[in-house]
Amino acid sequence: MQSSLLSHLATPPTRIPPPIPTSSHRRRRPPPPFAAAAATPPLRHQVTHSMPPEKAEVFKSLEPWATRSVLPLLKPVDLCWQPNDFLPDPSHPSEDFLDEVRALRDRTAGLPDEYFVVLVGDMITEEALPTYQTMINTLDGVRDETGASPSPWAVWTRAWTAEENRHGDLLRTYLYLSGRVDMLMVERTVQYLIGSGMDPGTENNPYLGFVYTSFQERATFVSHGNTARLAKDGGDPLLARICGTIASDEKRHENAYARIVEKLLEVDPSGAMLAIADMMRKKITMPAHLMYDGKDPHLFEHFSAVAQRLGIYTADDYADILEFLIERWRLEKLEGLTGESRRAQDFVCGLAPRIRKLQERADERARMLEPRGVKFSWIFNKEVMM
Ligand SMILES: [Fe+2]
Ligand SMILES: [Fe+2]
Repeated sequence: MQSSLLSHLATPPTRIPPPIPTSSHRRRRPPPPFAAAAATPPLRHQVTHSMPPEKAEVFKSLEPWATRSVLPLLKPVDLCWQPNDFLPDPSHPSEDFLDEVRALRDRTAGLPDEYFVVLVGDMITEEALPTYQTMINTLDGVRDETGASPSPWAVWTRAWTAEENRHGDLLRTYLYLSGRVDMLMVERTVQYLIGSGMDPGTENNPYLGFVYTSFQERATFVSHGNTARLAKDGGDPLLARICGTIASDEKRHENAYARIVEKLLEVDPSGAMLAIADMMRKKITMPAHLMYDGKDPHLFEHFSAVAQRLGIYTADDYADILEFLIERWRLEKLEGLTGESRRAQDFVCGLAPRIRKLQERADERARMLEPRGVKFSWIFNKEVMM
C-alpha cells in the first residue's frame, strides 16, 4: 500500500511528474506527443549561478588536492569489469552462446514481474547518463571547459561518466536477453527521459552539486544492493552479482563525492554547511524523476511506490543516507559556525527523525487505504500492486 506522501518521502522527487508543466491543475494532463522534443518547461523556480564568482577560486586552489585525493578513486580501465564479463559470450560457438542465453532466461523466469518494474526503473535511471554528465558540467569552477580539459575536476567527470556508462549497458543487455520486459516501451522511456533532463536544483553551484552527488551515489548504492539481494532470493545469483558489482562502483563514487564535500567543510565550513541544508530543504530529487513512457503521467511515482514496497529504496533509506552523511561529515561536531550556518547545522542534524516520523504517519494512513494495482507498459501492461 502506498500513499502519495509515502512515495514522496521514499524517493523525494515526486513533486514533479513527467514532462508536464508545473502548476498542479495541469499535472494530470498527459503531455503532448512531442513533449520530449520540445524544451521541458521550467519545473521549479530555476536559479542559476548562485555561487559568488570569487568562490570559484576555492575549486581552483583545490585542484592539486583533487589530483591527490579524488582521482585515485577511479579505477584503471584495464582493471575495470566490463558488461561482457557477465553476459553470454557472443564469441562462443552459436550453440554454446544460445545455451548461455537459455540459462539466463531460465534464471530470470523465477523473478516476479514487480521485481522487473524496479530493475527497469533502475536501468532507465542509469541509461540517462548523458543528463548527469551535462548536469555536472553545469557546475561553475569544476566543469569540463573544453571537452578534454586536463583539470582534475574534468578528468574525474569524464572518467566517472565512463565508469557509469557500463551500468546501463550491462543492465540493458541483461534485461533484453531475459525477454521479461517490453524493450520498445523501455527504450521509449529512456529517450523521453534523456529528452526531459533533470532538475536537481543545484544552481550551477558546485557546493550544491557535490552534496547532491554524494547523496545520490549512496542512494544508488543502496538501491542496487537491494536489487542484488532480491535477485539472489529469487534464484538468479548472476543477476545478484551484476547488481552487487554495480553497487560497489556506486559506493566508490559516493566516497569520492563525499570526500569533496568533506574538504569543502574543512576550507569553507559555513559555505558547505549552508549548501548541505539548502539541498536537504529542496529534498534530493532522484535523477530519473522526469521519467515518462508516453502513457503513464505518474510513471515515476508508480515506480517509486513499487521500489518502496519491495524495500529497494524507501523513505527509511532516505533518512539513513542523511544520517550516514551527517556522521561521515561530522556535522554535529562542526565548529566555528555562526548565524545562518549554525541554524543550517541544527536543521540538518535534526532532520532525519522528522522524516522518520512523517513516514510513520504516512504508513499509518496507507494502511487505511485499499490496495490498488497499476499497469506498467515495461512489463507488457501487467498490473503490479502499489
Ligand atoms: Fe550507476
Ligand atoms: Fe552512480
